[in-house]
Amino acid sequence: MKKVLFTLALAVALPLSAQQKPVYLDTAKPLEERVEDVLGRLTLKEKIALIHAQSKFSSAGVPRLGIPETWTTDGPHGIRPEVLWDEWNQAGWTNDSCVAYPALTCLAATWNPEMSMLYGKSIGEEARYRNKNMLLGPGVNIYRTPLNGRNFEYMGEDPYLAAHMVVPYIQGVQQNGVAACVKHFALNNQEINRHSLNVVVDDRALYEIYLPAFKAAVQQGKAWAIMGAYNLYKGQHCCHNEYLLNNILKSEWGFDGVVVSDWGGTHDTDEAIANGLDMEFGTGTDGLAKGTNNAYDNYHLAMPYLERIQKGKVGTKELDDKVRRVLRLAFRTTMSEGRPYGSMLSPEHYAAARRIGEEGIVLLKNANGLLPIDLNKTKKIAVVGENAVKMMTVGGGSSSLKVQREISPLDGIRQRVGDKAEVVYVRGYVGDASGEYNGVVTGQNLEDNRSPEELIAEAVEAAADADYVIFIGGLNKSAGQDSEDSDRKGLELSYGQDNVISALAKATKNLVVVNISGNAIAMPWVNEVPAIVQDWYIGSEAGDALASILMGDVNPSGKLPFTFPVKLEDVPAHSLGEYVGERNRQVQDVKYNESIFVGYRWTDKQKKVKPLFPFGHGLSYTTFAYGKPTADSKTMSADGALTVKVTVKNTGTRAGQEVVQLYISDKKSSLPRPVKELKGFRKVKLAPGEEKEIAFTIDKEALSFFDDVQYAWIAEPGKFEAIIAASATDIKGVVSFELN
Ligand code: GLC
Repeated sequence: MKKVLFTLALAVALPLSAQQKPVYLDTAKPLEERVEDVLGRLTLKEKIALIHAQSKFSSAGVPRLGIPETWTTDGPHGIRPEVLWDEWNQAGWTNDSCVAYPALTCLAATWNPEMSMLYGKSIGEEARYRNKNMLLGPGVNIYRTPLNGRNFEYMGEDPYLAAHMVVPYIQGVQQNGVAACVKHFALNNQEINRHSLNVVVDDRALYEIYLPAFKAAVQQGKAWAIMGAYNLYKGQHCCHNEYLLNNILKSEWGFDGVVVSDWGGTHDTDEAIANGLDMEFGTGTDGLAKGTNNAYDNYHLAMPYLERIQKGKVGTKELDDKVRRVLRLAFRTTMSEGRPYGSMLSPEHYAAARRIGEEGIVLLKNANGLLPIDLNKTKKIAVVGENAVKMMTVGGGSSSLKVQREISPLDGIRQRVGDKAEVVYVRGYVGDASGEYNGVVTGQNLEDNRSPEELIAEAVEAAADADYVIFIGGLNKSAGQDSEDSDRKGLELSYGQDNVISALAKATKNLVVVNISGNAIAMPWVNEVPAIVQDWYIGSEAGDALASILMGDVNPSGKLPFTFPVKLEDVPAHSLGEYVGERNRQVQDVKYNESIFVGYRWTDKQKKVKPLFPFGHGLSYTTFAYGKPTADSKTMSADGALTVKVTVKNTGTRAGQEVVQLYISDKKSSLPRPVKELKGFRKVKLAPGEEKEIAFTIDKEALSFFDDVQYAWIAEPGKFEAIIAASATDIKGVVSFELN
């Protein structure tokens, strides 16, 4: 009795609000308690409403309980303009322009996790300010073929680099109370036939190459969302795939967030129910993903699911698991305590975009120190090429943006040069004069009907008396170039650019070629051109970042996140593996016969095949000298660690940054292994003459391979080498050790 009285008294004593505040609204309560509290309050229809879209990019909340809706937004490089409720086209708002950050290949090319954190924080602030609680990015699909139209959205060919560069990006985004939705899980490595290819790949390649970046995103990055890929694996669409979603992602890796379908990636109600899909977006009720009148009740996880439950065909166990995950998303984002307010178009965001661009640009070649341009000795600079002026933030698919500004390479060079020298511009070639995507237009008029001969003659003439000639070309965001839902047909540049470059190489010895792309290209003129710069899609600050590098304000420090092959046949996906380049709709296999030998893992094994430019390659305006690497022991025990040290010295006359790379080579293994694999990297700043010691501590994880018979990661005792390098082919030192 006493207890009852006491409880009663307590209830009366507490202020009304505290007494009535439900658990789910009490931010002091543990997340799982808040989830369970809501779950117990929901009707069946409210549960169903939470797990599928209500508009093109949003899904319902629970109005009755004050649970907000989920609003997703593309993409990995900037916040997409608002669209109409049920349309792909933009809605024509006037306050949804954004900052375009560099494409993720550029971020990967910085080899600097601090840049990833800066990137994620900045883009997360823009998503937050626009009241989006899920960013549909970053993408970390591995660069298997240089033809893949979406490589520019991803982080290169190496799983270790991609894993270490994606984690801080996710953390930076999620600090804003916005979920990162890491995509496309998994094996979406080409765009042509992306909806119908059934990827056939051995478990070693799956675990050693294609999954690590996603695993790191989940286990280190703590990503709150993962997006299923369009393609199939083991005959099931990845958006509802038992192996990838239930077995690996949720069971093995312990993922507790939401699996979101790609837009139109859901094809089967029963699989969607049972195989781990939590939120269905973009489904066309007539089976197409492009319908403008999707009847959202006809989604697989809508009425069809509700009817199966009502008829007793399925229970509600899977439904409650999906709903728990959606509620976790709400409590981590829209309903999280102390959530920041975000910001947009701020000077800090522009500075971040520029800095990431400047750290990502790669100096591929610089014969006789042609670069940087010394304006005190320069009277005239001729800039040649369509990519010097063409906007690159519009187009390319779902990562297309409506920017507040985009500084073109030509504008950046002109602004930087000022009146110190004359800058002339000639077109050089005509590529794609169009510029519109989903209703966003560039407003540029790039029409030019002159013949290639006329354009080349004009370029050669402009080059004749110029102190520097800067050709700016490469790919663009049009179909068949670097663009979603399409792949390139070959490695070669389009629009006759090679002819322009060769003609210019004959006209001047001071030729700089700037390649703007998210993919490797063939360079038949590589020996005729003294300086080559790999520029990326850098976004709003493209021109300023490039000009800083060309004029030497910033010392280039980028390194390639993927191999530049000489020709397509040098790529194992095209010589050994299968690549299905002809469009068709029926489901068919694509066999990854090359297995784990992707990128430098392949070229290292070839005696004759040498890369045009290797993975990890990038020059500087200064020089670096490496000491002899040492290890703190000659042996490592299975549960021990080993520290490898090496000194790096700036032996040049200006400050710079070097990326010290650690590769591990297993000298004898029971299963085939690559010659070496990246297992560590460190970007280090050095003043002229300054020397620093870098230490890498490795454990058996760095020595392991995935044994698909034992279905486990194995480190076999025996001889290993720790290889210190400045690229996959520029070995600076080797130290041997034994694993006991
Ligand atoms: C697209 C893309 C995906 C994007 C989604 C929404 O088809 O594959 O990356 O986030 O649909 O636009």
